[in-house]
Amino acid sequence: MSIYGEYTPTLQKILQELMTRFENLNKDQQLKTGDSLFEHLNGRVKTEKSMTEKCLRKKLPLTPYSALRENRDSIGLRIICNFIDDIYLCIQKINEMSDIKIVKKKDYITNAKTNGYRSYHLIVDITVPDVDIDGNVPGHYYVEIQLRTIAMDTWASLEHEMKYKHEVKNPELVSRELKRVADELASCDVSMQTIRKMIKEDN
Ligand code: GTP
Ligand code: MG
Repeated sequence: MSIYGEYTPTLQKILQELMTRFENLNKDQQLKTGDSLFEHLNGRVKTEKSMTEKCLRKKLPLTPYSALRENRDSIGLRIICNFIDDIYLCIQKINEMSDIKIVKKKDYITNAKTNGYRSYHLIVDITVPDVDIDGNVPGHYYVEIQLRTIAMDTWASLEHEMKYKHEVKNPELVSRELKRVADELASCDVSMQTIRKMIKEDN
């Protein structure tokens, strides 16, 4: 039996609909302003294995309630933007969606993690026509939305790879170097933003 119980198809459906909605929002923005809201978008329903491991780690019973209520990242969206400003514009657009309520914000851009990780994380509550784990119709589901620039995403992918896939022989040095690169990339993001502003002011 799935840890998501009877809700597995609903999770997939919510993810697909959200992704389509964001893609359409991006197209509209391109038509209206000539600029895209984001560069690309990824989405996933957390695998059974990852969700089970997370529940065990948090000492939660292996139930759909743990997976859908105690944990709030069964559905995950990652929005990868060209520029830092676009991240905040995306958040503004999310704020305007009437069926979505932002329940938690973590700004790891203003407050980068000590290892150098940067991203803006949102936990949102989306209202859907389907039944939820509490038996309510319309139902409520949590979605984790991570927003980052291409540079932040590049760094996070590499760091994730190193953290989980390899036996690191000199972890202190690697951590220090990764932190240095994260800060350099953050500085590049600011420069890119400035360059874009210069180009816009010229036109
Ligand atoms: P969990 O959801 O239990 O993992 O904890 P949390 O809700 O406190 O986590 P947080 O919102 O800080 O981060 C959740 C997700 O962000 C992770 O699953 C990763 O995808 C990403 N993330 C957070 N910190 C890091 C990091 O240091 N490196 C990388 N590569 N990704 C990170
Ligand atoms: Mg989380």
